Amino acid sequence: MPVQTPRTSRASTPRPPAVRASDIHSARDSGALSAARLYDAAKYRTRHPHSYLRSTRVSSMSPTDVPACPHAAAAAARRRVADLARTIAPHPTAAEVAGVGEVYVYQEDLKKCRADLRAFIDEVNCHPILLRLAWHDAGTFDNTIGTWPQCGGANGSIRFDPEMDHGANAGLKKAIGYLKQFNEKYPNLSWADLIQLAGATAIECAGGPKMYMRYGRVDTATPTQCPKEGNLPDAEAPYHDGADPDAATHLRRVFYRMGFDDREIVALSGAHTIGRAFKERSGVSTHGYGESGATKFSGKGCPVAGGMSKQSGCPAANVVRADGVPGLGMPGGQPWTKRWLTFDNSYFKKEYTDEPELLWMSTDRALHEDPGFKPHFDLYADDQKAFHRDFAAAFVKLSECGARLRPINGIKINEDPPRRMVWRG
Ligand code: HEM
Repeated sequence: MPVQTPRTSRASTPRPPAVRASDIHSARDSGALSAARLYDAAKYRTRHPHSYLRSTRVSSMSPTDVPACPHAAAAAARRRVADLARTIAPHPTAAEVAGVGEVYVYQEDLKKCRADLRAFIDEVNCHPILLRLAWHDAGTFDNTIGTWPQCGGANGSIRFDPEMDHGANAGLKKAIGYLKQFNEKYPNLSWADLIQLAGATAIECAGGPKMYMRYGRVDTATPTQCPKEGNLPDAEAPYHDGADPDAATHLRRVFYRMGFDDREIVALSGAHTIGRAFKERSGVSTHGYGESGATKFSGKGCPVAGGMSKQSGCPAANVVRADGVPGLGMPGGQPWTKRWLTFDNSYFKKEYTDEPELLWMSTDRALHEDPGFKPHFDLYADDQKAFHRDFAAAFVKLSECGARLRPINGIKINEDPPRRMVWRG
């Protein structure tokens, strides 16, 4: 008779139930588990990184989490769970909320804030500077650094002086100043969310694509958490990150570090379809503030720039805004396109070739001269829909670079994107 092997004690020993990261968050969000229980659960997961890995969807991980080898995977999982455990108890900030009700309140605040931002942008015509602010907060991201907030990115750190004083951010204090009133009215919202919400709203108000963003970004807490200077691109050589004077190489070095490819670089650069450069800020243009610094497209007195509208009957009249309403905010500076408050594909039509007063930098030129960038540039010149689709996807990705979302799947204020909008990854 075959001897029956006794069942191992493993089967009979009670072991803690497997807990997935999403369980921890939803339990915390619904208030079902106490902080102490959640802490225990997270600690258990710290000791069992493999079960954590199995149950965590890769799509919910940032590029920095993707493990290189099994050992690195275990270490990465331990770090992530330890991070998770730390965030549970001590400071629930902004979207790092305790209950479903609070997520709802946060979402409602986002929507109300968006409505206020729309009215403000419509009045001040500050679309471009808000978009530039959002890009500069997120664009410091370094996907070779696996810890937060050292990796930089969309974490609101640009509001602190050490980062705002970086050379690349010249002029952006004004944009933070614009957002202060919204921060005071909606103190619940994190700065990181407010900045990205303003960028997305600016694009939409300028006639650009709808942004399927996620919110719930956690803020950096102190000025000491700002990234080092030098992560954003330079417009002209010499490029700070290497002796190579080639603009295309420089762009790749900067954007590959964030996790973008050639197509995304070209799509994102299309943001220069709106906005201007100023002598007093970046210095890449000889055109400065005010009427005296304006080109024929950026002065108030000029009919082309919005002093008069099409309706005024002036044959030369044109307007820079997408909705045809005259207005340009502060006069001055040098734009890349004629209608520089309209988020269309005119950047890719190289209007500067007929209009010497328009701006074109070495990094802009690289996009239609470099063989890797050129096919995408040409596509967007012919097909505005393709530009809008790819820009929206790349910008949403940019807005989550280095972002730590609470709750972990984020909070949406637009319904889900149509299938064709889902980024190819
Ligand atoms: C590709 C590398 C890039 C370089 C070298 C670059 C450089 C610059 C420079 C020098 C200015 C002028 C700033 C001033 O003098 O006020 C500027 C403005 C601007 N940039 Fe970029 N940029 C790049 C990419 C991007 C991206 C990816 C975005 C957004 C997704 C963006 C959005 C803007 C906007 C909207 C403005 C106009 C700001 C205003 O009118 O106040 N840029 N950029």
